[in-house]
Amino acid sequence: MIPSILPTYNRAPLAFVKGEGSWLEAEDGRRYLDLGAGIAVNALGHANPDLVAALTEQAQAVWHVSNLYRIPAQQRLADALVEKTFADTCFFTNSGTEAMELAVKMARRYWHEKDQPERTRILTFAGAFHGRSSAAIAAVGTEKMTKGFGPLLPGFQQLAWGDHEALREAAAQPDVAAILIEPVQGEGGIRPVPDHCLKGLRDLCDETGALLIFDEVQCGMGRTGKLFAHEWAGVRPDIMMVAKGIGGGFPLGAVLATEAAGAAMTAGTHGSTYGGNPLACAVGAKVMEIVGDDAFLETVRARAGRLRQGLESLVARHPELFEEVRGAGLMLGLKCKDAPAGFVQAGYAEGVLTVPAADNVVRLLPPLNIGEAEIDAALARLDAAAGRVRADAA
Ligand SMILES: Cc1ncc(COP(=O)(O)O)c(C=O)c1O
Repeated sequence: MIPSILPTYNRAPLAFVKGEGSWLEAEDGRRYLDLGAGIAVNALGHANPDLVAALTEQAQAVWHVSNLYRIPAQQRLADALVEKTFADTCFFTNSGTEAMELAVKMARRYWHEKDQPERTRILTFAGAFHGRSSAAIAAVGTEKMTKGFGPLLPGFQQLAWGDHEALREAAAQPDVAAILIEPVQGEGGIRPVPDHCLKGLRDLCDETGALLIFDEVQCGMGRTGKLFAHEWAGVRPDIMMVAKGIGGGFPLGAVLATEAAGAAMTAGTHGSTYGGNPLACAVGAKVMEIVGDDAFLETVRARAGRLRQGLESLVARHPELFEEVRGAGLMLGLKCKDAPAGFVQAGYAEGVLTVPAADNVVRLLPPLNIGEAEIDAALARLDAAAGRVRADAA
């Protein structure tokens, strides 16, 4: 019999009833160090007092009014994003997938308004993940994502990771509207795009006129130690998708754009009942205030250094399990020699939560405000989990 919850997830047999900072408490009272943060969502940890206060204050005032009216919290968040980024304008969504949908629409509409409606092709990269909607699975195009869901939305072309020749050739096609890339691939196995490649993409887009779209749903909002990951490379996109961390656990996403890229999205071209809802934006504005602060980001970088160093020693101590540490800031991956499920499960037994990704990688995406002592405790638990996997294999 089909369960009452559609069984699209292979869930771990854990249910958490309480969270505080980087800790989660399960039904049986066991405490876990959360190095997954809801897959890079709980940027400021669980039950962060500032976020609880922002949400409660808004909840006591007004929950929802619709985008028929001005929403002051939305305006505050938009102003903060515009002030701190390349963007001139933003549209708020409830998720990363919805941000993806708008990014695709925006890129195509841009060319439509330029009287080049044939420019609809969007170039994407192997290993990418942009969500699960019909457009997002078509963008990625793998059998795993698309099997049985056709006909797929046309107009996407997937390119091999790191094949510059193929990229140049594809970008030269006259119907290319945009190039879409995650500056650090998340689901694909924590693969940072080298800075010079992001610069190369910017140059290529400048040559051809194609729009450069960054998907910073997972790697954005302070995760890499800068507010947005592309800042490390010193390049600017035309459009950027954001979600996850921006809501700190409250569903919120956004598309940020330059004036030129966003100008075709006039009244009536897009909309959302909930996108930019007062509750979400009250929390989002508080997250931005905290994460957008340089001193906060400096601390993220310091904590990231400590975690990375500890992970490098972990890899050195367990060379039969791990190959390397990769990633940026607090978006780190342990590349395993085999499928990482056993290590993730051993982590549950040791009271530490991690997230598997493709390419045999275990993701570590702790809250950005994780403490030094918690990092050390997490490393000890990861070491014990690795010991457990070795003992099981012996
Ligand atoms: C890079 C990236 N883009 C888009 C998405 C889709 O976001 P959401 O699950 O909020 O719809 C994700 C989710 O994991 C993601 O990692």
